[in-house]
Amino acid sequence: MIIEANGYDIIIEKGCLDRAGDYLPADRKTLVVTDSGVPAEYAKKVLSFCGEGSLIKTIPQGEESKNFDILRDLLKTMLDAGFTRRDCVTAVGGGVVGDLSGFAASIYMRGIDFYNIPTTLLSQVDSSVGGKTAIDFEGVKNIVGAFYPPKHVLIDENVLSTLPLRQLNNGLAEALKMGMTSDSELFEIFENGNPYESIEAIIEKSLLIKTDVVNKDEKEQGLRRVLNFGHTIGHGIEAEQAGALYHGECVAIGMIPMCSSETAGRLKTILAKLGLPSSCEGDVEKIYEAMLHDKKSGKESITAVFVDEPGLFRFEEVSPDSLKEKIRTVVRGKNQ
Ligand SMILES: NC(=O)c1ccc[n+]([C@@H]2O[C@H](COP(=O)([O-])OP(=O)(O)OC[C@H]3O[C@@H](n4cnc5c(N)ncnc54)[C@H](O)[C@@H]3O)[C@@H](O)[C@H]2O)c1
Repeated sequence: MIIEANGYDIIIEKGCLDRAGDYLPADRKTLVVTDSGVPAEYAKKVLSFCGEGSLIKTIPQGEESKNFDILRDLLKTMLDAGFTRRDCVTAVGGGVVGDLSGFAASIYMRGIDFYNIPTTLLSQVDSSVGGKTAIDFEGVKNIVGAFYPPKHVLIDENVLSTLPLRQLNNGLAEALKMGMTSDSELFEIFENGNPYESIEAIIEKSLLIKTDVVNKDEKEQGLRRVLNFGHTIGHGIEAEQAGALYHGECVAIGMIPMCSSETAGRLKTILAKLGLPSSCEGDVEKIYEAMLHDKKSGKESITAVFVDEPGLFRFEEVSPDSLKEKIRTVVRGKNQ
């Protein structure tokens, strides 16, 4: 399947990594960025299709790499290798590699072409599409970045064969989120089907939702906030847990209090099937503070996304205090 996003194509095709030459420019230098946890053969395969003078840069795996030092290192590598405005950057990795190298591409010579080949399920169903790139700064996630859409996104389900199960489930949580808000058929795959045997359908349906939302509201003025379902509380939990829980796991927990009780019950059954948590132990006050910090809106109320029945969402302005009560329903507090 090929999905048309805002000005670029997303190619979803089993084995497309082996045919990446059909989509990448062979007559230009490419900086292929990957990380130390991604099997090296993926970046090597991509390099084999790139023009003369292309090279691979392998950054350390993990969120900590989304920083100014590594960004600088990528820019210096391009400068030293004589990259011009004609040359390009290709990410081969998860959301960390994609966010960082997309941002590097956006600022080198005021912007050179960027291609993304996401290799985690989370990056395939979510972060590689929508044009957001960023690094973290002063302990704040994604605070320095740019909207910078790629030229193409290549999604090959085969690369998921090397991904640890916990990482796969982490990505399924984001896809489940899209089903919860916008597609009851996608939700149905999770509730009554076998998600592990339906990965391609899950990727396609998730990206159809994400591209539809982003096409209508790229800069997150309104509708795009639907993608934040489960993220308001989820981000607070993620910050407090300091890496102990993955992003998708925090979103899984964060979705529960935003559903009607009947839907929350159905959601919990699915989360259990996917080995995802539906509660955690944590410091409620710290989660609340992190959640408020993350909202950065300066408003008294927060626009939250609610799901009363799978496939349908609504926005509601809520008070921070009411969200604190919701946090208490999924976090077994350490300070109560
Ligand atoms: N730009 C956006 O719109 C957006 C949206 C959501 C998340 N994000 C960002 O995405 C990042 C998280 O992305 P992620 O979950 O992909 O994490 P990640 O990039 O850290 O990858 C997770 C781990 O999997 C390893 N890995 C990657 N592909 C593999 C493969 N095929 N086989 C084996 N191991 C593999 C990596 O080395 C890493 O250790 C965060 O920084 C988050 O802020 C961005």
